[in-house]
Amino acid sequence: MVAWKKKSHARAEAIEAVCARTAELGQALPRLAEGPTPALPAFPWEPELDPAAGELDEARALRKRQQIVSAAAHALTLTAKGAHVVEFGAGQGHLGLLLARLRPDAAVTLVEVKEYSCAAACTRAQRLALRNVRVFHGSLEAFEQSGEPFDVALGLHLCGLLTDATLELAARRGAAACIVPCCYGQLFGAVDHHRGGSAAPRKAPFSSSFRAALGEELLPLYAEVAKGADHASVGHNGAFDTESSAAATAQRCMKTIDTDRLLWLLERFRKEEELAGQGTSKELAGEEAGGLNGPSLTVDKRTCFSCELRNLEPVCCSPKNSVILVSQPRRIVSIKEGECASTPLFQATIGAGLSKAAELRNVTS
Ligand SMILES: C[S@@+](CC[C@H](N)C(=O)[O-])C[C@H]1O[C@@H](n2cnc3c(N)ncnc32)[C@H](O)[C@@H]1O
Repeated sequence: MVAWKKKSHARAEAIEAVCARTAELGQALPRLAEGPTPALPAFPWEPELDPAAGELDEARALRKRQQIVSAAAHALTLTAKGAHVVEFGAGQGHLGLLLARLRPDAAVTLVEVKEYSCAAACTRAQRLALRNVRVFHGSLEAFEQSGEPFDVALGLHLCGLLTDATLELAARRGAAACIVPCCYGQLFGAVDHHRGGSAAPRKAPFSSSFRAALGEELLPLYAEVAKGADHASVGHNGAFDTESSAAATAQRCMKTIDTDRLLWLLERFRKEEELAGQGTSKELAGEEAGGLNGPSLTVDKRTCFSCELRNLEPVCCSPKNSVILVSQPRRIVSIKEGECASTPLFQATIGAGLSKAAELRNVTS
């Protein structure tokens, strides 16, 4: 057998062994409500909202529109009235701007490291006259250091460990999350892409249930599953054949990696519950309350962790179509002194912590 055939055969065997051994583990996950994701209400693609306004050709623009609409539909299922939604790795803000347009009651912060993407997002938000959008020019880590609270973490095509850093930050802040991951192969790369949080390249799955199930025999093969998730045979113009065996394998690999991520979050949540004492409400202030100096928060620890793996629809809109949904595991039930509750959008969240942030642009000021 020629060398490349040997290699792809070995990878296929590794994927089969790991996916088969871990296939049942996802059943331990507490599920969000069953049922289809509600469709978005009809809305016009205003020029500044439309990804086609950039440099995309029509076929790519159509797929990008489908990705954004589907991701927004999933995100809205987690977005309560008046929620603060933060899109990490927002790029030019395709997803966050649509969400802000559809939900004027919500406050949307776009977090992005690239200066030119931030500038483009600001311009788009200004032209759309969106009063509920801000752009945070800086990394996830810089945003984290600002200590600003939020309710929902969003991310569309977050590369490798940026997905994990976002999920981890959301878990730490008791926020919900709606993330579409990409670049799965980077998870086990030798290079640390500095995605923020404590997420760094690892040699093994994140969850202890996956590690226990695979044991020493199969653990070294797990990286092949991460690589397999990236191999959906994307053809000309970014299009791909959803019926191909490569796409089916990539789907299986994505589901396996994302199930491990959710089990990791569940284990983390259970550990926190154990430490905090189940069924109790806890009053948080200062650092614990997310760095806010003013009001103290009462957090209800009774709300359960629940999650779901879904897909962007139609699945042909992107080979990276897995959607990770996590409900808000802790619910803030009251805010003492009423300061946060009565202030207009955003003023509530501008505490001392933000001066530490890289740069914050309120696009309507
Ligand atoms: C694949 S792009 C996706 C952009 C956008 N979400 C979209 O779908 O059009 C990933 C984005 O994450 C940004 N990024 C990478 N690492 C980051 C970090 N640590 N904090 C914030 N943004 C980051 C990159 O600059 C890039 O714009």
